[in-house]
Amino acid sequence: MKKIMILSGAGLSAESGISTFRDHDGLWEKYDVMKVCSTEGWIEDRKLVTKFYDARRADLEFKEPNHAHTILVQLEKDYRGRVIHLTQNVDNLMERAGSKDIVHLHGTLTDLRCEACTEIFDVGYIAQNDAISCPHCGNRRVRHNVVMFGESAPEYSQLHQAMRECTLFIAIGTSGTVIDITRIAKEFKDSLLIDPKRQKISSVFNPDSYIDESFTHFIQKRASEAMDEMMKIIKAHMDGRF
Ligand code: OAD
Repeated sequence: MKKIMILSGAGLSAESGISTFRDHDGLWEKYDVMKVCSTEGWIEDRKLVTKFYDARRADLEFKEPNHAHTILVQLEKDYRGRVIHLTQNVDNLMERAGSKDIVHLHGTLTDLRCEACTEIFDVGYIAQNDAISCPHCGNRRVRHNVVMFGESAPEYSQLHQAMRECTLFIAIGTSGTVIDITRIAKEFKDSLLIDPKRQKISSVFNPDSYIDESFTHFIQKRASEAMDEMMKIIKAHMDGRF
């Protein structure tokens, strides 16, 4: 059976006004990633890390899904059971656009996690505060539910499962710095990259190669502007035209 694997990144939500990480003016230009998103930073200064995620959670409340989120939800409905959408994004814009089936590889901003019993619970958009305790065990030592560098990402097992099951790979708005999209694309006969920027592979072994060269299709546009072309490629794949 033909099946679609989608891996999305910060570029998918960029047109909703959420900063990407590595673009000019991205989050990692404003913050030291090792201080706010690593286990070392967490051990050094829990308050700073908590403040960082509180600010991002608050920012999310007033953002809206964009056209690309809407089309991806429609795709999920039209090809029910034949689309696996894995996102590196921790926002909830896919859910707010109506998605029932999105996998968050790096966690979720609107949840907190209990450090005692690992219960994950919804806090909406509020800042973490002393009154919050785990609804399951009552413990007050709770933390953001976003994977940090230096931690394992349990949902990555779904990435490997999707690679085994799917026939078409689509990467949308991700630089591939954390998850190597060129390696994934090479496992597929049919693949599509959507990104407005042409970028080189960051490897000393392939200094002159571009990421898009590992894909069979490349739409060099913003996510929302690429949706019509993406749908044509998907339809051709699902109809067995290539
Ligand atoms: P990056 O910031 O590394 O890459 C964003 C990509 O989106 C770039 O390739 C941009 O060119 C592209 N882009 C920008 N605007 C776009 C638009 N309107 N439409 C489509 N693409 C656009 O973000 P990620 O690859 O998602 O991890 O970063 C991966 C992980 O690194 C994140 O999940 C985060 C970060 O550290 C954690 O926080 C654990």
